[in-house]
This record gives sequence, C-alpha cells and structure tokens, in this order.
Amino acid sequence: MFNKISFKIGLLFFVFILIIESFLFFILYINLANNRIDEVMDSLLARGNTHRDVLEDHFDQSTLEHVVIMESESEFSVVITDENGKIVVSSDPTEKSMMDVVNHSDEKTDVPIEGKVVEDRWNEKQYIATDSPITVNNKHQGHVFMFADTDYVKQTVNQLNNQFWITGLITVVLTIITIFVLSRFIAHPLIKMKKATEQLSKGKHHVALHTTRKDELGELANSITKLAEDLKTSKTERNEFLASIAHELRTPLTYIKGYADIINRNDTTKEEKEEYIAIIREETEELTMLIKHLFELAKMDEHSFLIHPKWLNLCDFLHNIIERIQPVLADKKVTIHISCPKSLMVYIDPERFQQVFMNIFDNAQKYSDEGSTVNVLVSKTDEHTVINIVDQGEGIPEKDLPYIFDRLYRVEKSRSRQSGGAGLGLSITKEIVEAHSGSIEIDSQRNKGTNVIIKLLRGEHTDEKGADC
Ligand SMILES: Nc1ncnc2c1ncn2[C@@H]1O[C@H](COP(=O)(O)OP(=O)(O)OP(=O)(O)O)[C@@H](O)[C@H]1O
Ligand SMILES: [Mg+2]
Repeated sequence: MFNKISFKIGLLFFVFILIIESFLFFILYINLANNRIDEVMDSLLARGNTHRDVLEDHFDQSTLEHVVIMESESEFSVVITDENGKIVVSSDPTEKSMMDVVNHSDEKTDVPIEGKVVEDRWNEKQYIATDSPITVNNKHQGHVFMFADTDYVKQTVNQLNNQFWITGLITVVLTIITIFVLSRFIAHPLIKMKKATEQLSKGKHHVALHTTRKDELGELANSITKLAEDLKTSKTERNEFLASIAHELRTPLTYIKGYADIINRNDTTKEEKEEYIAIIREETEELTMLIKHLFELAKMDEHSFLIHPKWLNLCDFLHNIIERIQPVLADKKVTIHISCPKSLMVYIDPERFQQVFMNIFDNAQKYSDEGSTVNVLVSKTDEHTVINIVDQGEGIPEKDLPYIFDRLYRVEKSRSRQSGGAGLGLSITKEIVEAHSGSIEIDSQRNKGTNVIIKLLRGEHTDEKGADC
C-alpha cells in the first residue's frame, strides 16, 4: 500500500497543498482578526465621539444623565470626567482597571479632538478604552471615556477561530478527496500498463490497452500496445525463419543420404561412386556455407558484429575482387567493367566489403546469361559516394522486389537451388552496408537487368582526389 504510486503521489500532493493552505489561512486569519478588532475599537471610539458631540452642545446634568442611561443598557460603559479629571458620571460601577485609564486623563491633554483609543491590549486587559475630549469654546471641559469588556473582543475573535476551524477541516477533507480522485486518475492507467507488461513478459502478446487519452500516459499505452504487436510479429517471423532454415538444411541432407545409400549398393560402379561422392562433397560445402552465413546473421542480430574500417582506394579494391573471382566469371564468359574516379578513397572494412561485392557480383553472374556484361559505375554527389552494379541478367519481378533483402528469400526457389543460392547473400550484404552507415537499394526490370545501388556517406566514409580509372 505504501509503495503504491497512487499513495506516493497523493501524499506528496497532500503535504504540499497542506503547507500552501496553512500559509494562506494564516495570513487570512491574521488580517481578518485585526480587522474585526479594529472595527470594535473604531465603533467604540465613534460611540464616545457621538456622546462627546452631544455634551459639547449641552454640557448639563440632564444630557449627562441621558448619556449614562443609554450606556447602562448597552454592553459598553461610559465614564465622563470634568476638566480636572474628576469623575462626573459613569454608567456602571467604575472598576480599578477603568480607574487606571481615567486617572491618566490629566496626561491625556495630548488626545486629539477626534478622540483616541487609549487601551487596545485586548489580550491582557479586562477592558479596551477610548477617550474623546470635550471642548467647549476652545476650553477643555473634560473627557468621555468609553469601555468595552475585552470578553466582547475575545468572543468576536473566537467566532472567527471557529469559522476557520470548520473551513479548514472542510478544505482538508475536500483536498483529500480531490487528491484521491486525481491520483487514481493517474495511477489507474499505470497499473493497467504494469499488468499488460507482465502479460507480455509471460509471452502473452495480446495486449489491449485501449485509450483515448492524448497525454503522455496515452502515448505510453500506445507504445506498449505497439511493442506487443511488434513482439508478436517478430515471434512469427522467427518461427517462419526457423522453419525455412529447417527446410534449407533438410534438402541437402536428403541428397547426401540418398547418394550415400546408392554408393553403398553393390551394383554401383566405380565411376558412379566417384560422381556421387563429388555431389556429396558439393552439398556438404553448401551446407557449410549456409551455416556460416546463418552464424554471421546471428552475430549481426546480437550486435556483436564489429566493423574495422580503414581508408582504402575503391578502384584498386574493386579490381582485386574481380581478379579473385575471375575463374568463375571466365567459366560463364561474363565480363565486368569498372568506371571509378581513380583516387577515390573510402573508409570501409575491407574484409566485410569484399563479402558485399562478392555477393553482388555472384548474383550478377549467376542470374545472367553466358557472355553478358556487368558494369560497375562509381560516382559522387555532395553527400554520397554512389556505387552502381548494373547487370544484363534476368532481372527481378516487381512483386518480389520488396522482399529481396529478407532472409532466405529467393525469387524462384527451385531454380535457385540448382544454382546453389540460399537467399542469404543480399540480407548479409544489407547488414554490412548499414553497419557502415550506408544504404543499399535494388532497381530491376524483368529480362532487362538489375541495378544494385550502394550509397556511402562522403567525408565520414569516403574521400577522393585524382583522375578516373
Ligand atoms: N542480379 C540479380 N538478378 C536477378 N535476380 C537476382 C539478382 N540478385 C538477386 N536476385 C534474386 O534475389 C534472390 C535473393 O538473392 P540473394 O543473393 O539474397 O540469395 P541467393 O543468391 O539466392 O543465395 P546466396 O546469395 O545466399 O547464395 C535470389 O534468389 C534471386 O532470385
Ligand atoms: Mg546471392
């Protein structure tokens, strides 16, 4: 429970909001309390001033009594003194704390005409008090002291306290409810996604995280759904690939077993035996190649496939390769022409790129008629060095072009088997070119020929100076 994200988010929100709310409530409370106290003081002073005004007009016994009668009915007390500070009348019995205020009346000559609050310590004293001096014909006639029991002020503040406590409690409850709803709103989809990924790791690829949310959580849910679909696809592809490999391995093994059986038969002549042994050797070599290629692809998938590039002259490099495969080319009377800027340097792994060109030249001669020509054209653009290998062979049907780089993909399975292809050459080639940050495409037309286009980034992987070769 304490480890749940909803709890953590909720707690964090709660603490922050509580701090902010307490701070705001505190400021509000101080302001309101001060306002209330000021209001009480102001109204007390205003009351004293009213009495004073009446007395200034009629400073006689009946007016004095009238004022006293008025205040004896109210929650306030009034004390009126003469010019010598002697109490003339008071509405209530004068207590000691009242007398303390009144006795200082002599010093209160500095009290302005509009009166003044002379005791405001409502927390400590029993009364708060105001003084309104009476002046008739510019002559000081005495004071009107007004007293209000501080219980009255305290009551007002207590009321405010109670209101604040209730409001505070309601706010806390509302905050908790809001946070609960909010954290569920955030945490619920996360919990769903967690369950979905658990299902994924158990191998169940059907994940339904339908969401209409457009925020980050929605994006995450969509990514997980996409991941599940990708996993499903790659699992299917892997199974298909394994089935194809099994098939590829089974076919030569069937041949080998068949010929071995025939060799064992008593009626097989010596010549036949030799011929069959040669076939067995050929099939074994093919199997070895196939396994080697598969192993290379596996290494590429694992990313344990490293390239060791160095600067080399592309022209010389291409000529060397052609020299190596000359016996095969001569066998089929295929000629390769190279047109390449003479000092074009490329930054490539020689061993890997030899494999690239061997695969492409091998295809070019394998899928061309006797006596045809293959043209290698190297050119450069601002960004790339472009290598075109153009043959005049049978070409690739348009419908097969999108799959030509797929592993074990061959256009005509039966015919290709005769020519020994397993359908791995181009996929290995593509992996190697891409490991060099390059790209490879194939452009082909049935019965016209095929153009393999390799692009390598200039600057990083190529550089050149000099004439053509
Ligand atoms: N230059 C080309 N002309 C015509 N078809 C081609 C050419 N290059 C490739 N193909 C077609 O593409 C398929 C895949 O080529 P890829 O090189 O991957 O496999 P492969 O040549 O059959 O076998 P491998 O190269 O593994 O020995 C070939 O089987 C062939 O049908
Ligand atoms: Mg090939």
